[in-house]
This record gives sequence, C-alpha cells and structure tokens, in this order.
Amino acid sequence: MITVTSLSKYYGRQAAVDDISFEVPKGQILGLLGPNGAGKSTTMRMLTGYLAPTSGSISVAGHDVLTESLAVRRAIGYLPENNPLYDDMNVLDHLQFVVRMREIPAAQVRERLRSVIDVCGLREVLEKSAGQISKGYRQRLGLAQAIIHDPPVLILDEPTSGLDPNQIGEIRQLIKTLGSEKTLILSTHILPEVQSTCDRILIMNRGKLVADGSPDELAARAGSEEIVRVLFKGQPAAGLEKLQAIPAVARVEELAVDEPGVTGMLVIGREGEAGDLRELVYEVVRDEGWPLLELYRQRLSLEDVFKQLTLGENVDEDDVRRVA
Ligand SMILES: Nc1ncnc2c1ncn2[C@@H]1O[C@H](COP(=O)(O)OP(=O)(O)OP(=O)(O)O)[C@@H](O)[C@H]1O
Ligand SMILES: [Mg+2]
Repeated sequence: MITVTSLSKYYGRQAAVDDISFEVPKGQILGLLGPNGAGKSTTMRMLTGYLAPTSGSISVAGHDVLTESLAVRRAIGYLPENNPLYDDMNVLDHLQFVVRMREIPAAQVRERLRSVIDVCGLREVLEKSAGQISKGYRQRLGLAQAIIHDPPVLILDEPTSGLDPNQIGEIRQLIKTLGSEKTLILSTHILPEVQSTCDRILIMNRGKLVADGSPDELAARAGSEEIVRVLFKGQPAAGLEKLQAIPAVARVEELAVDEPGVTGMLVIGREGEAGDLRELVYEVVRDEGWPLLELYRQRLSLEDVFKQLTLGENVDEDDVRRVA
C-alpha cells in the first residue's frame, strides 16, 4: 500500500530524514517510534505530500506522491502533529468544511457525517467551538476530519499526545477499530502504545531507520538472556553456590534486599541455552527447603530496545545551540 524508496529530507546541511526505505502492506498498523527530532513528522509530511523530499520516492495506493499528488491526498487521511483547528469554528462546521474540501458527493454527505460523528463520539460537542472543547475531543475531531472521506490509508502524527490516561485509552481503542480496515501509520514516543496497537514498529533515530519488526521481535532482539529473580529466606552464601551449580546458569548476582533474613538473587542463564530457568531455580529452592518468597522471570522490554538503539546520540544540535 505504501512504498518508500531511499527517502531523504535535508534542511540546509542537516538531514532530518536520511535515506530510509520501507514498505507497508495493506491493512498493517505501523508504529513509527523515535526520540524528539528523529524525523518522524518530517517522514509523515512527505508521505502525505505536504513536504517535498530532497531525494527518493514514495508511492501510496499505487500513486506517486510527487507526480500524482492529488490522487495520493485522496487516498490518505492525515492527522498532523499538534492538530491545527480553528478555535472560533464549531465542531460541526469543521466537519462540514472538510466535507466540502474533500468533495464528498452530496448524496453521501449525511451518511459520512453521521458515521464519523458516531465513530469518534462527537455528538455531544457538535455545537461547541473548537477552542472550548477538551484536548481529548480536539483529537477526536482531528481524527474525524482525517477519516471523513473514508480513505484506505491513515497517517496519524502523535494521536495521543497530551491526553490523560482515560482519553489515551479511548483514542487507542478508536485507532484499533480504524486499523482493522485501513492501512495505518502512527507516530508516538509512548512505548506501551505501539506494543498494544501496532503490528509492526519502525524505530527512527537521527533521520535513519534503526529497527524494523513486530513488538515481540524487537523485544527479543534486545537480548536472548534469560534472567530469573528469586527471593527466599536463607543465607546468601549457600544460595549463591547452589544456584551457580545449575548447568544452564551463566552467573548469579546477589540483590540488595531490605528485609532481614531475606536473600535475593538474579539468576542469569547461559546465552542460547533454551529452556525455562524458573523451574530449575525453583527445584533448588525446594530441595534446600528455603521458604520461597518471590520468583519471576525478567524480560528485556521494548523500552530496553529503544534505549539501546537510540540512547547517547539523540542530542538535537539546534537545541544545544539554543540553550548555549
Ligand atoms: N521546517 C524545518 N526547518 C528546519 N529544520 C527542521 C524543520 N522541521 C524539522 N526540522 C528538523 O528536522 C529534524 C526532524 O524533525 P521532526 O519534526 O521530523 O522530528 P520528530 O521525530 O517528529 O520529533 P518529535 O518527536 O519531537 O515530534 C529535527 O532535527 C528538526 O529540528
Ligand atoms: Mg514529530
């Protein structure tokens, strides 16, 4: 549905987007992730035809963004970063304005309006001006404007930014519903967001793609180490020795525990050693007769992957200069 080939965007000598390529098949929900200034919004603006690339090409629904810009814009619904609205205009007028801009045939207008008002839950605020409604409703209105012409492709730039946890839940649910029938790209800094809504994640850093995969694949890439955390009543020295003796264990580290008489251990498995360390650790604890207080497997999270891939080099030079 979307093909991006060797896409770059330079602002002066600075590459905001630096030679990225990817494809998005029909029906996929793709999360674009990255620290501030990574190039997410710039990429989305180019995808939607609002910004011309410095080099490279983009095709959306079979149309080239540069040469068939109008066809591409018809195929896309776009929620821009910061969701610009006219504060004096009421919600219904916003929708009717977009209806005219999108040239929706007169016979379909009522049905399309009814549909987006229901899907986005806007009925109770139709008469309010955009300046009076809450941030959550502003996002819903932005989404309604993006989907009113029923486009096959949706591009949402930080759809949940600035929302409270309840509103985030609602918008996420809405995105999931929309994603069941559309090809969707959304950008975010919020990791649980991509984990819960996206089929696939692209991580950008400094204009480049640094990772591409499903949430599980990316989490797995962070490390294949198996780590089990165990707390029991007993002497640390004995624990260390017995746990260290398990063949599948690479090393054991003692944890600082605040409870008297309680010992905590991190048991780290050998790289590539398949199998469940939890059971082996439990057997030792049981055989030694140590009262077991806690035992769980730690997994490296998507957050760890994100940090590994983007930390230490995401300083925006412009920001540094501004502060200096
Ligand atoms: N109009 C512009 N003129 C000059 N530089 C720009 C312009 N727009 C963006 N940039 C620069 O391009 C880089 C990428 O910006 P972009 O807005 O695409 O990042 P982002 O990933 O969307 O960040 P955020 O998470 O903060 O929204 C940044 O270094 C930014 O300063
Ligand atoms: Mg952005």
